[in-house]
Amino acid sequence: MAEDAAAAAMAAASLSDDLEPATARTRIRSILVDGAARAGERVVVGGWVKTGREQGKGSFAFLELNDGSCVANLQVLVDAAVHPLAPLTATGTSVLVEGELKKPPEGTKQRVELRVVRVLEVGEVDPAAYPLPKTKLTLENLRDVVHLRSRTNTIGAVARIRHQLACATHRFFDENGFLYVHTPIITTSDCEGAGEMFQVTTLFSHAEKVEKELKESPAPSESDIQAARFVVEEKGNVVKKLKTEKASKQEVTAAVAELNKAKENVSKLEERSKLKPGIPYRDDGTVAYENDFFKRQAFLTVSGQLQVETYACALSSVYTFGPTFRAENSHTSRHLAEFWMVEPELAFANLQDDMNCAERYVQYLCKWLLEHCREDMEFMVKNYDKTAIERLELVSSTPFQRISYTKAVELLKNVTDKKFENKVEWGIDLASEHERYLTEVIFKKPVIVYNYPKEIKAFYMRLNDDQKTVAAMDVLVPKVGELVGGSQREERLDLLKTRILDAGLPLEPYEWYLDLRRFGSVKHSGFGLGFERMILFATGLENIRDVIPFPRYPGRADL
Ligand code: 4AD
Ligand code: MG
Repeated sequence: MAEDAAAAAMAAASLSDDLEPATARTRIRSILVDGAARAGERVVVGGWVKTGREQGKGSFAFLELNDGSCVANLQVLVDAAVHPLAPLTATGTSVLVEGELKKPPEGTKQRVELRVVRVLEVGEVDPAAYPLPKTKLTLENLRDVVHLRSRTNTIGAVARIRHQLACATHRFFDENGFLYVHTPIITTSDCEGAGEMFQVTTLFSHAEKVEKELKESPAPSESDIQAARFVVEEKGNVVKKLKTEKASKQEVTAAVAELNKAKENVSKLEERSKLKPGIPYRDDGTVAYENDFFKRQAFLTVSGQLQVETYACALSSVYTFGPTFRAENSHTSRHLAEFWMVEPELAFANLQDDMNCAERYVQYLCKWLLEHCREDMEFMVKNYDKTAIERLELVSSTPFQRISYTKAVELLKNVTDKKFENKVEWGIDLASEHERYLTEVIFKKPVIVYNYPKEIKAFYMRLNDDQKTVAAMDVLVPKVGELVGGSQREERLDLLKTRILDAGLPLEPYEWYLDLRRFGSVKHSGFGLGFERMILFATGLENIRDVIPFPRYPGRADL
């Protein structure tokens, strides 16, 4: 495989006498893909023991080894003459071994196994202390050992699926002429205007530092400063006297140095006397952010959209893909406080162009997984969701249903076979139960709902001619509900100003955003795809906390 060749080339390139030889390790996946065809080959493999058992009255051991390159393990056989067996067999032990690939005896499950010739490295495990017992922990329990759960089959499969979805994302946009733009994580603009931002500030840590410092050595009093000023006067007089007495240059220089030291001491004391414990406030009682790190209030971004629009309005087709943060106190299985979003932004594009792009992108992702993640998807089907592969096949080949919000509300109002917890009427924000009913029960495929009431959507969405709705669109998919949220942007300066003010937001922080409408304004549209929601949709897992490596939600931010 290409990976092996690359590893060998890297190892050869780095031959250096004064260093430990490089490790030309073969990935287990490449061995298992080739199977018996590689029998006879000598390889080095590394990994963690899934299960190990001594056999033949302790004369040899079988290790099921996994290195994360695929779900499957490589069967490794170690003879007691090669290495003591006891330290190798505990679940979680790491080994780096060299051996020969062999065709196992007829009738066994494996197509190839490794007979170890040399054990190069071992990282032992005390089974009594290892937090991942052989009996399966639930996904919920695994969230308490987030630093070790990556060793489980499920989290490993999710990691590979996640990686492939990221690769597919960059491929898709690159193939379609989009530029990848890195938008800032720290921002001073609230994109969604929903007041769900985490603040970025050093005021608290600074206040704590000052408090600690003042406790260790209290601020100087006015009389301390007076005394120091008196020393300056005295030292000044000494210099004057030496000069009138025409003292030697050496003597004068030494006295001037003393004077400067005394002056420095005064400024230090004056500076320290200004130190005040606590958060700085202005006279009107508001926090004095001019003393904060950025000299203004700053936040973690909830979306890179506003910033990426500046590039769309210059480079036409762009996207951003990065972490976003929302301080909403939701404890649902679909929300995280830190999640990743893919946000394309298209110039010269209306709502239809936006929907077409979203539909093609989601279909591309599904197809990609079917082609590049078969084994991991099969693992999901076997262990979590029988319909996961069918769902990818259906979505990648079926055009998405498109209906207006008004029509969706009508359909939901006429539902008789289910009682919704949230009342349905024109003007409501569709709840997850409504979204899922539309896509799972009524249409049985992805649905794009468009033209939502302006009251429930963000200020930047383009006002429709009916003056009641905006050119918004959400893509709803089975299993998840809302996967994508997007819109055509308001490109008309006056209307945008009105929408900002109507949303109760100040104009000043959005002046730069308004400039995009003042100078060469252009019709443009974009959307955001929740990356973890896409992984939920693909894998069929139930909880979003299990599809991001390090989940952050109210009360939890481990590691
Ligand atoms: O619908 P949202 O809020 O849209 C925006 O942020 C726009 N600025 C995007 C754009 O037009 N460029 O969020 C987009 C998607 C949602 O459809 C959902 O999939 C996901 O982001 N999302 C979340 N995922 C996990 N946890 C949360 N708390 C999420 N909030 C939104
Ligand atoms: Mg939304």
